[in-house]
Amino acid sequence: MSSYVTRKTPGNTEWFRHDRFGMFIHFGLYALPARHEWIKTNEFISEEKYNVYFENFHPDLFDANEWARQAKEAGMKYAVLTTKHHEGFCLFDSQYTDYKSTNTPFGRDLVREYVDAFRAAGLKIGFYYSLIDWHHPSFPIDKLHPRRRDANAAELDKGRDMRVYAEYMRNQVRELLTNYGKIDILWFDFSYPTAGANEDVQPWMQYGGCKGKEQWESEKLIALARELQPGIIIDNRADIEQDLWTPEQVQPTRWLTHEKTGELVTWEACQTFSGSWGYYRDEMTWKSPKMLVDMLINTVSLGGNLLMNVGPTARGYFDKRAQNALAAYGEWMKYNSDSIYGCTMAEPEFRAPVGTRLTQSEDGKHLYIHLQVYPFAFLEMPNLAGKIKYARFLHDHSEILYTEGGTDNWCTEGQNLTKDVVVFRLPHVKPDILTPVIDVLLK
Ligand code: GLC
Repeated sequence: MSSYVTRKTPGNTEWFRHDRFGMFIHFGLYALPARHEWIKTNEFISEEKYNVYFENFHPDLFDANEWARQAKEAGMKYAVLTTKHHEGFCLFDSQYTDYKSTNTPFGRDLVREYVDAFRAAGLKIGFYYSLIDWHHPSFPIDKLHPRRRDANAAELDKGRDMRVYAEYMRNQVRELLTNYGKIDILWFDFSYPTAGANEDVQPWMQYGGCKGKEQWESEKLIALARELQPGIIIDNRADIEQDLWTPEQVQPTRWLTHEKTGELVTWEACQTFSGSWGYYRDEMTWKSPKMLVDMLINTVSLGGNLLMNVGPTARGYFDKRAQNALAAYGEWMKYNSDSIYGCTMAEPEFRAPVGTRLTQSEDGKHLYIHLQVYPFAFLEMPNLAGKIKYARFLHDHSEILYTEGGTDNWCTEGQNLTKDVVVFRLPHVKPDILTPVIDVLLK
């Protein structure tokens, strides 16, 4: 059994740590301008101008079953969809706003279709819900708000009342957690309790232009969520520690720990294919298939989950580049998922040889050596002699021969290997797998 114990939290994270791999989906009006999901504030777009996207929101090629199929084929086990992003537009039929997908030419409750399709495909269901809202009339004009540089911004801010908005959020979260059956993850985004230097903070701004748990009334919001969906997993971004630590667009170099107690925590890295979250037509920084696969391996090798994002096009489908990226995962996972599901960081006694990453099954029986840099013919691994029952490639279960205990034959001659070393003999030509994996069955 794995010796790693993670900090206890209110939600049920056991399935989550087993499943390891999920799909993030950022979809909203920003898919139409197709140049970043923050476009409304990045370009200071007026309500009136932004409305053209609302009037033309019609993802005619949207098919939730198709999204679910691609997620599943990529090897993903759960998904998190933006029910509302910072722009304030809701993909569900909320009775508390008119700013929703059912009032666009599309006319449908997209969240409902997502839930039905993903659940039918056997995937767990997550809702992203933006705490920030650049459309709601009670949301104060703060350092991130699209209206912050308007000449009459201070005037516009008058009468905006966070308490009204906080109640709106509770109402919507109640809808989301009542009307769609069992929800597994609630992903709030995000808090900014303090302002940094050079930010757009003005003296008239409420709360110094910032927002955190007091303004969101996070305690009430979370209590409500827990009451409606016991066991649900909630992230930490409402400025109150919950179940999930969520490093964004970084590859941690060690298992994340609790800042006070030092305990290991449950973490999930969220990453993008190309940099932005919403569909960004002209972004050319798409990660290679190999990089994508290695990001998943790196994450699990440090005890974490990966939530990989797709930004569907305005017509509601995943564009070719996204499809190819997902297919790369699918191809690799088809043969190698045993080193991901139910796996975690390898026990400390195992040290990864240069160019490799290790994972180990929770039951301790399999050690997986991921050959991210394919070695020439031999791979030496210290501290492993005497512990192996059998070794094979994971993708085809072909046997891998090895010698143990500092061999003295021609291949390792002169290298003075220590007695604890195992030398695996690998084919000279790398198998046609982005990152091949050695599956070591341990005694
Ligand atoms: C950030 C961004 C946002 C994105 C999120 C995903 O907080 O504001 O656009 O949804 O990260 O983690």
